[in-house]
Amino acid sequence: MPRLFIAGHRGLVGRALVRAWERRIAAGEPWEILTRTRAELDLRDEAATRRFLHDEKPTHVIVAAAKVGGIKANNDFPVEFLLDNLRVQNSLIEGAWRAGVERLLFLGSSCIYPKHAPQPIREDALLTGPLEPTNEPYALAKIAGLKLCQAYRRQYGAHFVTAMPTNLYGPYDNFDPLTSHVLPALIHKFHVAKAENRPAVTLWGTGAPRREFLHADDLAGACALLLDRYDDEAPINVGAGEDIAIRDLAELVREAVGYEGALEWDSSQPDGTPRKLLDSSRLLALGWKPRVHLREGIAATYRWYQEHRAAA
Ligand SMILES: NC(=O)c1ccc[n+]([C@@H]2O[C@H](COP(=O)([O-])OP(=O)(O)OC[C@H]3O[C@@H](n4cnc5c(N)ncnc54)[C@H](OP(=O)(O)O)[C@@H]3O)[C@@H](O)[C@H]2O)c1
Repeated sequence: MPRLFIAGHRGLVGRALVRAWERRIAAGEPWEILTRTRAELDLRDEAATRRFLHDEKPTHVIVAAAKVGGIKANNDFPVEFLLDNLRVQNSLIEGAWRAGVERLLFLGSSCIYPKHAPQPIREDALLTGPLEPTNEPYALAKIAGLKLCQAYRRQYGAHFVTAMPTNLYGPYDNFDPLTSHVLPALIHKFHVAKAENRPAVTLWGTGAPRREFLHADDLAGACALLLDRYDDEAPINVGAGEDIAIRDLAELVREAVGYEGALEWDSSQPDGTPRKLLDSSRLLALGWKPRVHLREGIAATYRWYQEHRAAA
């Protein structure tokens, strides 16, 4: 029976992967899911990770464990974003090869691509220009993970593949205003403003930049397809296929939260890259397509936030 180790199963993506594989099992597919919390196994520990993979013998591994965060966290902790990510992915990728894992899927991120890559960004834009400086350490670690998978494939014929998801959201996201990504940060901000009857919410920049957002359940569906059917050294993009101006995203979140105060933009703050959209046509050609519409996805995520996080 195939045994899947989901590394990072308590995260936004890892939880979606567990849900997806539980659905597969419920539908009669003969999978076994293997997980470990960080307290049980610190994936930065190469020897412990190698021992675990050797003893438990998963046939499949998805690397969804990483140090992840928004601009501020990336700025404040460049050492951890580089070193922890290198350590986690190195111990998993090398350990998987040594343990004879049949298939491994490494999750990178759209930030591996150059800051000024032509839009929508194709996979072959990799290493064609300088990276966005604010998350360069994280992006470099992810590029190293992608290259390590390619190296194991070239040198040893390992069936290791890599996927580059766009911005993700969904239940179990990180809503901490200091470390979160833009979408959960907006949910938290509007929720607090509503709860405290604040007359206005101020957001950074002009709201003009365009970004792409994919629900974690859609990524999990893509991971299932890739682990089953994709076996190529080229990384593959996983995106929703359309972008949205941050101004319009903020309106969607405001609507989902039901905040009726004013929305102000502090245009003295930087906007960042004007547009970031992945070209996911290679994945679409394999038969995958996203199912969760952004408006419904945000509403569902806000319901989850109210039930699980709002009080905290
Ligand atoms: N979120 C996004 O928008 C996004 C976009 C593109 C790509 N991705 C990629 O998707 C993957 C998953 O991201 P995510 O958003 O799900 O992140 P997340 O919610 O922060 O989850 C990461 C998981 O990794 C675990 N982890 C981290 N370091 C570990 C260690 N040393 N030992 C054991 N476990 C460790 C964490 O454990 P704890 O729970 O104990 O902290 C957590 O469960 C990452 O590779 C990320 O780069 C994410």
